[in-house]
Amino acid sequence: GGVPLEMHKVRIVQKLSLVPVERRLEALKEAGNNTFLLKNKDIYLDMLTDSGVNAMSDNQLAAMMQADDSYAGSATFTRLENKIREIFGTEYFLPAHQGRACENILSQVFVRHGTVVPMNYHFTTSKSHVVLNGGTVEELIRDEGLEIRSSLPFKGNMDTDKLKSLIRERGADKVAFVRMEAGTNLIGGQPFALQNLREVSQICRKNGILLVLDASLLADNLYFIKTREASCKDMTVAQITRTMADLSDIIYFSARKLGCARGGGICTASRELYERIRELIPVYEGFLTYGGMSVREMEAIAVGLDETMDEDMISQGPLFIEYMVDRLDKVGVPVITPAGGLGCHLNAMEFLDHIPQSQYPAGALAAAMFLVSGVRGMERGTLSEQREPDGSEVFSNMELLRLALPRRVFTLSQVEYAIDRIRWLYENRKLVGGLNFVEEPKMLRFFFGKLEPV
Ligand code: F0G
Repeated sequence: GGVPLEMHKVRIVQKLSLVPVERRLEALKEAGNNTFLLKNKDIYLDMLTDSGVNAMSDNQLAAMMQADDSYAGSATFTRLENKIREIFGTEYFLPAHQGRACENILSQVFVRHGTVVPMNYHFTTSKSHVVLNGGTVEELIRDEGLEIRSSLPFKGNMDTDKLKSLIRERGADKVAFVRMEAGTNLIGGQPFALQNLREVSQICRKNGILLVLDASLLADNLYFIKTREASCKDMTVAQITRTMADLSDIIYFSARKLGCARGGGICTASRELYERIRELIPVYEGFLTYGGMSVREMEAIAVGLDETMDEDMISQGPLFIEYMVDRLDKVGVPVITPAGGLGCHLNAMEFLDHIPQSQYPAGALAAAMFLVSGVRGMERGTLSEQREPDGSEVFSNMELLRLALPRRVFTLSQVEYAIDRIRWLYENRKLVGGLNFVEEPKMLRFFFGKLEPV
């Protein structure tokens, strides 16, 4: 590919600073070598996540000014509900404060002790909620999905043979629901094909099992279906979206990645499902017409969802990521290929092949990257897993440093800077050593655990 062209212009900016390397070293020590614990003032490019930090449009800001504030029955909520009906064709919408809140509620409603939730791949919070409710997660990604270097367009596909055997072995009544994650986060923002969703949906319907779509990374997955799936090239983005929704029984999303900077919600066409799920919204989130969101956020989501139907808009993230991945790949830096959504993923297992998994190579790479560049990424490897009850480590399938590209936020020169620093780090990779925990939380330890050099 060539140079990605921005189909927008920048009209509001925020000043950044690039503090000296001595200060970055201090900051890293204060943060216990955990990039989650760094302060923004010490960071030059924040590539931690694409969650809650995407650029907003002029139309979103305008809509936020017109929000109708009320605890119950605001016109803003009705606008959002109608936009969801229009886009997903689902009659019912239940608001929540973010994606994991939807996961909490869906797991409480459907997961029972001894049930299983098959997924194309787990996400950290989605797995935690299933496990907290006594269920287990089975990852049914196709084996090729875990190959680091590949030219497969849809590494996020579920293996439908594995799904059929799981249902046969465990019994359909033991399957709480099947979860398909768009833009499969933890394997490098890799999409699934519409055809794969169709096959999964057929299997679910035949066995009377609910299909739940995690649409948090829908924008990226839509772009890849549109550009990589030959049978969909004449469909509009809106038609693809509607087809995905029709194949699913429940859709939930984090609006922090889709449409806005906060919020989320659960959509369904089924009155019966709606009534079962509805009960828990006021308990955990808030009344049914806000669910923990401000009216400004709801207005921004309604406009943001509309803008997600525009190929020019949803192409921006993937095109920048492709540029970064291809440049690094060409000079031999180990990255996940093909480029996915969300961000550029460095393969720490190969980048730092002198560091064993027990010393968290991806965590070490995240710390080193910050030190040499002021760029903050996120560990997506063994640190992000949880220990077994007996205390043994669960070694992650992949050890990744994720450098997220929040949508429409960074310029190409900033991406070039990151590429240059990664190349330097790769040439000097033997300087990097492993990490050990000094403070290790039991749940989601990657968020606030502290580590020191081995
Ligand atoms: N599902 C997916 C696929 C996600 O990527 C996330 C969040 C969630 C659910 C949870 O949503 O944060 O609104 O509660 N991913 C963020 C990330 C945190 O950085 O990858 P949330």
